[in-house]
Amino acid sequence: QAPVITIDGPSGAGKGTVSQIVAEKLGWHLLDSGALYRLLALAVSHHGMSTDDVETLQVLAEHLDIQFTHNDEGKIDIVLEGEVVTQAIRTEEVGNSASKLAAIPEVREGLLLRQRAFAQPPGLVADGRDMGTVVFPQASVKVFLTASAEERAERRRLQLEQKGAEVDMQELVKTIKERDERDANRSVAPLVPATGALVIDSTELTIDQVVEEIISEARK
Ligand code: CDP
Repeated sequence: QAPVITIDGPSGAGKGTVSQIVAEKLGWHLLDSGALYRLLALAVSHHGMSTDDVETLQVLAEHLDIQFTHNDEGKIDIVLEGEVVTQAIRTEEVGNSASKLAAIPEVREGLLLRQRAFAQPPGLVADGRDMGTVVFPQASVKVFLTASAEERAERRRLQLEQKGAEVDMQELVKTIKERDERDANRSVAPLVPATGALVIDSTELTIDQVVEEIISEARK
């Protein structure tokens, strides 16, 4: 069994960037589980499928044709049914549909074994919401990465403004707090720290500091 580091937490805590750097530094595989939910959302939209038929959704989740391939620039391309969708899955719209699909137990069940299959030697860094609680409960290191709602809103603002969007900070903080509430209280895979998780509050930390803390934990 390959060693696994799980990194869970709310959006905007820096999980994606941190997970990627930790995986690179250790030379381990990376699972961006959020991307799987986003890919499923995009496939559902491409196929014009209804989200009411949960059995069909589960079958689609189990068999969805997904590839993570290295491109010429050394970056990862995400390929869905033969089409590169690396950028296409990052829109707000796909994120929202992904979050709705993620509340369906059959969808989570359908993706479960596919996620576990990423645990290959020499090791895996798994980024998500339920990596330490549900998917890899036996993980050697579990991290719950968080940051204040204000700080996460600020990071989001910078991203949105880079894309040229207008941002209302109060509104953003409110939306983030509402989503935290919903994520923590949903009936399937609620977002809570796994038992034994190292809780890291990144509000006042740089990405490098968070990475160092996780790597030193992994080397213990
Ligand atoms: O970028 P953001 O944090 O908003 O989301 P993401 O990590 O790309 O994941 C997209 C959505 O999938 C999230 O809003 C979650 O609702 C859901 N998700 C989940 O339920 N469980 C996971 N392990 C990963 C993502």
